[in-house]
Amino acid sequence: MSQKNNLILAFESSCDETSVAVIENGSIIRSNIVASQIKSHMRFGGVVPEVASRHHVEQITQIYQLALKKAQVSIDEIDAIAVTKGPGLVGALLIGITAAKTLAFVHDKPLIEVNHLAGHIYACQLENQLQFPLLALIASGGHTELVYMENHNQFEVIGETQDDAVGEAYDKVGRILDLPYPAGKYLDQLAQTGQATYPVPRAMIHEDNLDFSFSGMKSAIMNLVHNAQQRGETIVKEDLATSFQTAVIEVLTTKAAKAVAKYPSVKQFILAGGVAANSGLRKELVATLDPIEVLIPSLSLCGDNAAMIGAAAFQMYLQQQMGSLDFNAQPSLDLS
Ligand code: KG4
Ligand code: ZN
Repeated sequence: MSQKNNLILAFESSCDETSVAVIENGSIIRSNIVASQIKSHMRFGGVVPEVASRHHVEQITQIYQLALKKAQVSIDEIDAIAVTKGPGLVGALLIGITAAKTLAFVHDKPLIEVNHLAGHIYACQLENQLQFPLLALIASGGHTELVYMENHNQFEVIGETQDDAVGEAYDKVGRILDLPYPAGKYLDQLAQTGQATYPVPRAMIHEDNLDFSFSGMKSAIMNLVHNAQQRGETIVKEDLATSFQTAVIEVLTTKAAKAVAKYPSVKQFILAGGVAANSGLRKELVATLDPIEVLIPSLSLCGDNAAMIGAAAFQMYLQQQMGSLDFNAQPSLDLS
């Protein structure tokens, strides 16, 4: 590695955000441009893969140019190019991968293949220094995983959801309550105003493992709403939102505490992924795990962005874990 500051140009296009960033030394955000497609998917109540791919194609060149401009660097000054390899939507991933490969080939730069979930964890490196060993809870639209990290780039998945991801449960319950997609943010806001009066199951909470199950919560809420409709009763949406969110937070914090009890030497606990934006979860996790230091990215870094991919790529760069130009997208890529 050269003596000058390291600059990584990073691409993220795994789902419905087209993002390009320039990251200095794995922790300084020189630029992080995020173009969200949410408005295009909202009317369908979920992400439409073909629509996502088309938006990525339309946006990526512009976003790339904007990212370099904002960072005030030229492509010649970039040391390596990083890109999300998976998990995600195959067509969406391929747009970022093709852009990154093309630039790496044309400008003769090393290419780094990054796992999207590693990116979510490394979002914390943009604001804090990571100390190992650590535990991370990734809570996003597609994943709910507890991860143990002995050191940089060593990921051991120690628990995961057996069915729906927690963000997915938020989005499905939001749909039942007629909230816009993605519903996490709106459900979170609604939950601030109600009382936990409805019964919502906490599946697997007492089991002696670190796994999760969220599909039962969604079904219970669906049944509650249907039964009320049949009886001509009105559902108090705020109370239902609070009941759901209380159950989710109880499950996540209980399993997080169990993980810490199992790995007592950890120095930090990271909460990452889109659901890490949840106001109640942020508060409760810090309180439950006290005195362990809990790292949670700022709201703008919880959702998908390329800065986190650049942060994760820096450690791979230091370890000389470069990719080749012939790798492919891996829609179901694991972390371990
Ligand atoms: O990490 P992310 O941006 O995309 C994936 O990699 O999946 O996560 C998106 C998920 C969506 O399900 C969204 O509803 C959820 O994060 N989310 C929230 C909140 N903000 C976003 N869930 C709960 N509370 C929030 N405040
Ligand atoms: Zn994500």
